[in-house]
Amino acid sequence: MAGGSTTRDTVLVTGGAGFIGSNFILTWLQSTSSPIVNLDLLTYAGNPANLASLEHDPRYAFARGDICDPQLVAALLREHRPRAIVHFAAESHVDRSIVAPDAFIRTNIHGTFVLLEQAKLYWSSLSGPERAAFRFLHVSTDEVYGSLGAGDPAFCETTPYAPNSPYAASKAGSDHLARAYCHTWGLPVLTTNCSNNYGPFQFPEKLIPLMVLNALEGKPLPVYGDGKNVRDWLFVEDHCAAIRAVLERGQPGATYNIGGNSERANIDVVTAICDLVDEFCPRPAAASRRNLIAFVEDRLGHDRRYAIDAGKITRELGWTPAQPFEDGLRKTVRWYLDNATWVASVRTGAYRDWIAKNYADRLTL
Ligand code: NAD
Ligand code: DAU
Repeated sequence: MAGGSTTRDTVLVTGGAGFIGSNFILTWLQSTSSPIVNLDLLTYAGNPANLASLEHDPRYAFARGDICDPQLVAALLREHRPRAIVHFAAESHVDRSIVAPDAFIRTNIHGTFVLLEQAKLYWSSLSGPERAAFRFLHVSTDEVYGSLGAGDPAFCETTPYAPNSPYAASKAGSDHLARAYCHTWGLPVLTTNCSNNYGPFQFPEKLIPLMVLNALEGKPLPVYGDGKNVRDWLFVEDHCAAIRAVLERGQPGATYNIGGNSERANIDVVTAICDLVDEFCPRPAAASRRNLIAFVEDRLGHDRRYAIDAGKITRELGWTPAQPFEDGLRKTVRWYLDNATWVASVRTGAYRDWIAKNYADRLTL
């Protein structure tokens, strides 16, 4: 089905118009000469403007389409003959998975199955050395491990799966499929499970960009529950560097946890954002944006704490996160303030409908 037995230097990326995928493509093309083909459906979360700077770059090609479409995936593999697939495409927002889980099951589980199946057919057709060199890198999340108590040790690669939201369950399902394709047929799969990313181009439904924009506009800052839920924050460019390391040097069949060594309670992240926005855009009479914080009804099934033990990737591949959280947050807040056109382009009517649906009926505590 590959129409021959050779690969090119090309890498097929799925979901490359989303937050992490677009950062991955931009940093990849800054650091290597390997061409990229980006397969993305352009759902509400996909934005080709993230990659506008590549418009005339001959190393970059875009294909709009669905990872659930086997004919399309087969045709792209046949045409571009990639040496690897890096799979980001997913429905990624936990709150949306609580309101409407169907799309999560379809894209995250069925879509990953379609990609694995087509990758297996393509990989089987390759000649010896290229078959051995081929990689399928599946990008997943720490949420598959469930929720930690305050004193529990951080998630490591052998922590049992215990997903709690429809999103986490769908990602867990996709991880299991990826594992099965490696175990059963020997497809050279690598899986990464990482913590909360932040940085440029993140869709403003997620905590950090939502709070930056609401703070800037003087709107309430809706903190779920008591605000003491803890997340580990990973600067997106550190995540992209980790993926490059896993792709080039990871052991087929292995999983790698990737984290930022930056556990923070949500309320501390939000107050830090308030202070940064106050610093960059002082309000009249120096009124602090902290006054905008509103504790609201909690997310259903809200995981209390995530923490990552990234010891394996550090020991085996020499990767560690480079960006201290406070510096990364400062850069991120600055980016949102400096990119008003991008912000306006993603806050469409559909975005406003989502914000109304998720927040309008949430009681203030
Ligand atoms: P995102 O929601 O910003 O982007 C997802 C991208 O996938 C979009 O461009 C969208 O158009 C595309 N897409 C969705 N359904 C598709 C389909 N059926 N076919 C083709 N393309 C489709 O997501 P993100 O935050 O960039 O996350 C990327 C990956 O990383 C996901 O797999 C997510 O589970 C994982 N992850 C994210 C984080 C995080 O903090 N953002 C942390 C851990 C893991
Ligand atoms: O841990 C990795 C995961 O991180 C990824 O797999 C997901 O794709 C990504 O969306 C993210 O999930 P979270 O649910 O942790 O991210 P979110 O930004 O939605 O929320 C972060 C925390 O902030 C969480 O405890 C819920 C809280 N929160 C979120 C929003 C949107 C609020 O308190 N208020 C809000 O309005």
